[in-house]
Amino acid sequence: MSRIIFITGTDTGVGKTMFVYALALLLRAKGLSTGVMKPVQSGDERSGDAQFLKRRLGLTDDIRDINPYSAREPLSPHLALKRTRVVFNKDRVLFAAGRLAAKYDILLVEGAGGLLVPIIDGYFMADLARDLGAEVIVVSRLGLGSINHTLLTVREAERRALTVSGIVFSDPAGKKRGVPERTNPEAIRELCSVPVLGEVPFLKKKDAASVFAACRKTINIEALISARPGCTKKLVETDKKFIWHPFTQMRDWESDIPGVPLVIDRAQGSFLVDTDGRRYLDAVSSLWVTVHGHGRPEITEAIARQAARLDHSTMLGLANTPAVQLAERLVGIAPKGLERVFYSDNGSTAVEIAVKMAYQYWQNTGVAKKSGICHLQNSYHGDTLGSVSIGGIDLFHKVYRKLIFKAHQVPFPDCYRDTRVFEAVDAFGVFLKKEHSRVAALVVEPIVQGAAGMMMWPAGVLKRLEGLCREYDVLLICDEVATGFGRTGKMFACEHEDVHPDLLCIAKGLSGGVLPLAATLTTRRIYDGFQFPYKDMQAFFHGHTYTGNPIACAAALANLELFRSDKTLDRVRGSAGYLARGLERFRDIAQVGDIRQRGLMVGIELVKDRVTKEPFDWQERIGVRVCERARDYGVILRPLGNVIVLMPPLSIAASEIDMMLDALERSIKDILADINKPYCGC
Ligand SMILES: Cc1ncc(COP(=O)(O)O)c(C=O)c1O
Repeated sequence: MSRIIFITGTDTGVGKTMFVYALALLLRAKGLSTGVMKPVQSGDERSGDAQFLKRRLGLTDDIRDINPYSAREPLSPHLALKRTRVVFNKDRVLFAAGRLAAKYDILLVEGAGGLLVPIIDGYFMADLARDLGAEVIVVSRLGLGSINHTLLTVREAERRALTVSGIVFSDPAGKKRGVPERTNPEAIRELCSVPVLGEVPFLKKKDAASVFAACRKTINIEALISARPGCTKKLVETDKKFIWHPFTQMRDWESDIPGVPLVIDRAQGSFLVDTDGRRYLDAVSSLWVTVHGHGRPEITEAIARQAARLDHSTMLGLANTPAVQLAERLVGIAPKGLERVFYSDNGSTAVEIAVKMAYQYWQNTGVAKKSGICHLQNSYHGDTLGSVSIGGIDLFHKVYRKLIFKAHQVPFPDCYRDTRVFEAVDAFGVFLKKEHSRVAALVVEPIVQGAAGMMMWPAGVLKRLEGLCREYDVLLICDEVATGFGRTGKMFACEHEDVHPDLLCIAKGLSGGVLPLAATLTTRRIYDGFQFPYKDMQAFFHGHTYTGNPIACAAALANLELFRSDKTLDRVRGSAGYLARGLERFRDIAQVGDIRQRGLMVGIELVKDRVTKEPFDWQERIGVRVCERARDYGVILRPLGNVIVLMPPLSIAASEIDMMLDALERSIKDILADINKPYCGC
């Protein structure tokens, strides 16, 4: 995979093309194959820059790849293309770039003008640089004004999370040098943290030998070449030296397996980009959080605005604007009856808070005997000890048994291997009939038990559980940390069965998947169960330092606004249908035992024998191996045992769904073909 460098200018006519030409020659001399691209050119450039570079550099690439779009008039591309009736499609540019990048070590992409030159309405050169996963070099004209223009360009690039690898000065007209020309480079060096790579002098002769000779001494090519590979190596070493990763056998992690770990450096839309510039489709939404894609400016700009206004202020004894506004919005979208919002910062605490509220509610209201908490077999509610107490997955929870409080585990089947789900619900009813006076609450992951392997309940189960809770006055806690915010096709999974919990736990997608934020919503009844005279000491004694952090709340408000403006839930329904059709082909693979889907939550269970549903031995690590292989095909996945989880951002495009499924199919087939070879990964 090659490195893509986007060459932008502080203005038009600053000498970008000559710099691209010179840079390509210098890189080639270092043994790096270098291709070029000029995605859009207009006016004089139309029959100029791309053709000039192709000819001078002796490139054999199709000119339609080097220059997919051109227009006659010397105008901004968005006007020139519009007036020539050319419809710009960024995918055409990205595909061409992909083809070229596959051929070269380095692909130099020359922009038109500066970063904020529009290509079509609302889509700028900077957006193209970002979508290409490119780093940026800024070419700046020497002379009066260059400090301002250079700093503005660098600042805009950084604001858009583009990495600026260097600044180069250019002297396209060979003007006489005055004081600004002599002093500005040094001033910029001092004012800006981006390295100054040097200068393209005035080039009278344009043949390769002359350009190379003129620029060899004035451009510091080593600084550019060494900027990244060393960076990845150093980061990997430092990671292995200092970090302890979650849910990870660090002995494997530390061993020298090539490619472990990937260091993710930036992200855009559905893609993560590593420090070597490789792009990966984020098929698990960075652990089930990303909603509208990475780097949505509506969210990142809301964060920046809020950070500049109020970064943090405690909720203990004070309120803050976004936390107040968000609470009102959350009550507006939550299932009816939920009227109060208690903030925290992750899913586990949202659930613990719900459990503590339910327990204390009964204590406060004089029914102290109702103190037991019920949870389902195979449940997962987080990793803090309170959440582990109501966890039903032995692999994660058994080792901590002596540290946790005693809860009642409701026997509940693995819905793939045992379909007697309603029988389990009935048995729970029998249990409640006898024990309800000692039961405070039932905690469930409504409809989809995520960590259990994307276990999905048949329709009606959640409603029956709610019915039992109502019948026996047991509080219903719905943990929608994973299912909330559109994953199942509705804002909350409870809505599929018109269920109204007493407590609702939300986190992950609440902030759009950008910042840690969680909330526990509850009813007036529970809230009123805490209204007593001060001296009775029956307040809810719980609160975290970052509770209701204004920046995270501002992100959540922007997230909710995007649900409205993007019509996200309508879109999910369409994407889920498309995904369902695409998943059909996996049924032809003999070892695919089950394909479970609800909205954009999918579990594909791989089995040794489809008829008997015999699982693969866990030591074969089939799921892990498939997901590792998927990286070779440009997709990030994370399994749950033998279940491959697909949980892409809700904004995923149809072409990205195709890419995800193609990569997964190839990966499964590769690993099944290799099945008897010993595993040597991590
Ligand atoms: C249903 C459910 N509850 C709670 C949690 C814990 O959330 P967090 O990791 O933010 O603590 C998770 C995490 O995956 C979850 O899936």
